[in-house]
Amino acid sequence: MAVRNVREDGDEILRKKSRVVEVIDDRIRELLDDMVETMHKYNGVGLSAVQVGILKRVVVIDLYDDRGPIKLVNPIIVKTKGEQEVEEGCLSFPNQYAKLVRPAEVVAEALNENGEKIKIKAKGLLAQAICHELDHLDGILFIDHMLPGTLEYVEPRKED
Ligand code: NI
Repeated sequence: MAVRNVREDGDEILRKKSRVVEVIDDRIRELLDDMVETMHKYNGVGLSAVQVGILKRVVVIDLYDDRGPIKLVNPIIVKTKGEQEVEEGCLSFPNQYAKLVRPAEVVAEALNENGEKIKIKAKGLLAQAICHELDHLDGILFIDHMLPGTLEYVEPRKED
């Protein structure tokens, strides 16, 4: 496993559409593992492959709960319900946060790292993370949805 370089705001790859994964092989599994390691290094709750420079429909999410890291290949949202106003950031926008409205609940379908079909029913933070990461696969960023005037820069904590 290896930590990969995270692309940041201004990198035009973040606006590109990612391609469907045709075959889930060891390369894809290695990508998923590297993405989990990269997400953990930066304390993120989600990461999409485009953020490490790979235009494939591959996403990882981790809410640091009992469920552990979730690995999704070719994910789609098949149902949404309700709304929630949330605060959100992105590893490609270090130290920046904005408020936006996301669906309160989503149902998503995807393939796992073994190519098996999975279905996730999510609400709250998990629903938010799924929406955020799936947007990345179509070149959509959280700032595209933000409520006007809510983007904030938060000074990083100094570690001594
Ligand atoms: Ni993001």
